[in-house]
Amino acid sequence: MTRRKTVLDFARGRGPYVWITAYDYPTARLVDEAGVDGILVGDSLGMVVLGLPNTLGVTMADMVRHTEAVARARPRALVVADMPFVSYEPGPETALRNASRLVRAGADAVKLEGGAEYAHIVEKLVKAGIPVMGHIGLTPQRVLTLGGFRMVGRTEEQRKKILEDAKALRDAGVFAIVLEFVPASLAKEVTESVDVATICIGSGPHCDGQILVLHDVIGLSERAPSFAKRYADAASVIKDAVARYAEEVRKGLFPAKEHYRE
Ligand code: KIV
Repeated sequence: MTRRKTVLDFARGRGPYVWITAYDYPTARLVDEAGVDGILVGDSLGMVVLGLPNTLGVTMADMVRHTEAVARARPRALVVADMPFVSYEPGPETALRNASRLVRAGADAVKLEGGAEYAHIVEKLVKAGIPVMGHIGLTPQRVLTLGGFRMVGRTEEQRKKILEDAKALRDAGVFAIVLEFVPASLAKEVTESVDVATICIGSGPHCDGQILVLHDVIGLSERAPSFAKRYADAASVIKDAVARYAEEVRKGLFPAKEHYRE
């Protein structure tokens, strides 16, 4: 049996690390069996599982429930749970209270969106023994101020801010940083400037690892971002199976003898 991953398994320059999201027991089992290094219980669950327009409606109760489900699969991969919108922004005490709920639910670490402005919160969690993953670039919880889900880091001012944010998060003690939807040249510069693992989503090949949303990978998302790659069409598999079931019930072919007892 392979040992469980810890945050110490994610080091700068020793990738490539494979990350994916999962939100429930069966998919956590499957992605773990497929051999990923890390599972993110992302607040993207609001959009791909709960049908919300963005991640702002995801609550601590949602995150605890889904983290518990993923942890019950006892994955070998590292389990990171997202801190949802306004679960850490009010201050370090609130952040610690909420992060500890996610750890008690089975997370090995938490992820929070934002840069230097939240470094004091990262420090508080790390000091309390909770590993933190940073998340900069496109931060979906700031979709209202960003004006949409669009690439960040194209202007000189934004590039400078993202580099400063990465360094501030590194100094605060994160074990890894997600770089979402920034130019590949900037992801490369960040990766070369910090000594913690960088994990790219939509930001090119120069990071220490990649992460994608499971539903985009297996074809279950209604709208996947342009940077995602679909490796399977699970939507068709599900529709075909249910259509065949419906047809057999309507024709009196299901249940057959082997499916019931007199
Ligand atoms: O919530 C999520 O799934 C994420 C990834 C897109 C990195 O934060």
